[in-house]
Amino acid sequence: MRVLVVGNGGREHALAWKFLQSPQVQQVVCVPGNGGTASLKNCRNLGLSIDDFEGMARYALVNNIGMVVVGPELPLSLGITDYLRKQDLKVFGPTQEGAQIESSKAWAKELMREANIPTARAEVFTDANSAKEYVRTQGAPIVIKADGLAAGKGVTVAESVEQAESAIEACFSGQFGKAGSQVLIEECLTGQEVSILAVTDGLTIRPLLPAQDHKRIGEGDTGENTGGMGAYAPAPIVTPELMTRIQQEILEPAIRVLRDRQIDYRGVLYAGLMITPEGNPKVIEFNCRFGDPETQAILPLLETPLEKLLYACTQQKLAEFPEIEWKSGAATCVVIASGGYPGNYLKGLPVTGVEAAEETGAAVFHAGTQLKNYQLVTEGGRVFGVTAIGETFDQSIDAAYRAVDRIQFEGMYYRRDIGHRVKSK
Ligand code: AMP
Ligand code: GLY
Repeated sequence: MRVLVVGNGGREHALAWKFLQSPQVQQVVCVPGNGGTASLKNCRNLGLSIDDFEGMARYALVNNIGMVVVGPELPLSLGITDYLRKQDLKVFGPTQEGAQIESSKAWAKELMREANIPTARAEVFTDANSAKEYVRTQGAPIVIKADGLAAGKGVTVAESVEQAESAIEACFSGQFGKAGSQVLIEECLTGQEVSILAVTDGLTIRPLLPAQDHKRIGEGDTGENTGGMGAYAPAPIVTPELMTRIQQEILEPAIRVLRDRQIDYRGVLYAGLMITPEGNPKVIEFNCRFGDPETQAILPLLETPLEKLLYACTQQKLAEFPEIEWKSGAATCVVIASGGYPGNYLKGLPVTGVEAAEETGAAVFHAGTQLKNYQLVTEGGRVFGVTAIGETFDQSIDAAYRAVDRIQFEGMYYRRDIGHRVKSK
């Protein structure tokens, strides 16, 4: 099979890398890919933009692409799946209607209400004054969310009413474009966050290993929110009993309601959960795609051939698919970012030491790199995700940092405490 992967982050590098471990996969084509996918054997980058659906369809039809796997939410929310399916291509990723579970937080809330899925209480507002009035009656801490896609910047966990009010102002002032024309104001949940990535064919849904991300830029989980600074799997907080509850209380009801609404959802349903201090799972958000960096920690542990699993979803044959198999042990992914991220940062800085890092046995997934005249240079905020597996969390964490230590570029930044919750020393 030839697989086309849409996207250019660490998640897409990890997907391409995993596909190529299967003898059934001849070639992976990434649109547009990055410096990491460019250097994988049997993988090539195709220089189309991720919203050039027509160009991708043409390429896929001529080149016998057996399956298209979509990484980011943006093309999904623009209807890539609807477009490619009309051309008879097999696509792993929900339709535009299904992608609303991520592209509209108000839509997702309404679905949760209908499915009786446990989540934070929320109200939706379309003007700043009534939103502010509501915040004053509720007090802080309180969470302000732009309804639409805002590149991970649309959420403020406000510690004071004043901070909540300025977040409301920011949304309605057009900072997030149309995404901020509706605002959700949500009860602030406490507890530990976990990421449950589940694959579904729209009828059956099966979770992958539970993972935990580190969203904040600073050590000790402090500072600004980022796309994710590191992840590990399997998250021990999700016991088998808790996973059963998540399956019954969250994943299955979500798929049931999507089906009732005649939404054909074949792809990943990613539930971002808070495990409350009482041990109850509550949904913070749903995403319509693989999580990043979580995918970079989960896929190295997968034994089942990835292309078979995802293809079964595109064929609505997940119910008959054998149980998903995993390696024993643990995986840790440490993200290396450009200095200044999540704010402004420089690009085009030369990178050294990637091969030396790989020689340690770790997988170095590229998130924001480019090959320029045979020189690897930085190209984004998050530059690499370095994943190592080990028998224990301690071993996988140590191995990941041993590899990270070998990579160098000017101003590089990473957190030294990835995995602090699962580390024994
Ligand atoms: P999101 O963009 O929805 O993933 O939100 C970003 C982050 O904001 C989440 O990962 C949480 O850390 C935090 N967050 C979102 N909603 C809530 C909530 N209701 N209570 C507490 N924290 C939240
Ligand atoms: N790691 C968070 C996300 O993928 O949205």
